[in-house]
Amino acid sequence: MKGAPLAERIRAEVADDVRELGEVGLATLQVGEDEASTVYLRLKHQAAAEVEIVSVDRKLPHAITENELLGLVADLNADEAIDGILVQLPLPEHIDEARVIAAVEPVKDVDGFHPFNAGQLYLGRPAHVPATPLGVMALLAEYRVQIDGSRAVVVGRSDIVGKPVAHLLLQANATVTICHSHTDDLERHTLDADVLVVAAGVPEVVTADMVKGGSAVVDVGINRVAGGLVGDVDPGAAERAAFLTPVPGGVGPMTIAMLLRNTVTAARYRRGLLAFPGIGR
Ligand code: GUN
Repeated sequence: MKGAPLAERIRAEVADDVRELGEVGLATLQVGEDEASTVYLRLKHQAAAEVEIVSVDRKLPHAITENELLGLVADLNADEAIDGILVQLPLPEHIDEARVIAAVEPVKDVDGFHPFNAGQLYLGRPAHVPATPLGVMALLAEYRVQIDGSRAVVVGRSDIVGKPVAHLLLQANATVTICHSHTDDLERHTLDADVLVVAAGVPEVVTADMVKGGSAVVDVGINRVAGGLVGDVDPGAAERAAFLTPVPGGVGPMTIAMLLRNTVTAARYRRGLLAFPGIGR
């Protein structure tokens, strides 16, 4: 399951949407100089520029205080030209990540990390949904993988990928199992999976012999090892699986395309073209 062709199509749709909407603005905040974060943000801003989303890349010193950062988030919340706000994670240890995420106005939370948006997803009434899980679901749909009634196994329980993708699979009527670092006999679960989504952040934790024949396997991992970039799944799994996403070139391009789409959705919410779901709204 290649991500690039689908991602390109989605970016083209987003570019049309941006032309129709007029100016759409995205702001990102990066604290400190985490190397991977810098790379991801560069890709996000390049992609935004290509679809003519106006993007602002705020790079802040590692020593910024939590209150200063909260002040910047408040400024962006109030900025009419900004439709989407993304606080790149991880934040330094001296900053309470949960507090900063909760400070982002939910309608502008294009990462879908705010407790309101996470809660909406849990309730099956999605508002902003995190980009990587959306990308995973779009890939599965593109390749016509049957989700309804399937046994879906998610390896990893992060707030960014594992938990939200498990909810999306559940909403699509899969029977969902979430495995994690304390799971006993991981293979017993993965071998049973018609749909296997691996987002553990452990190089090739799923080996070829752990994959069910004819299944669809989505590898969300990007691990830098001595030999280069590897995923969380041994590429040899392609021998058994009906579908497998490559690393790189699978989920990665989809994440960025979905972030752009979420930014357009935020712009629609803010212009009253779409109703932002929520209590009493
Ligand atoms: N860090 C790793 N992945 C992500 C992501 O999707 N969004 C943000 N904001 N930070 C991340």
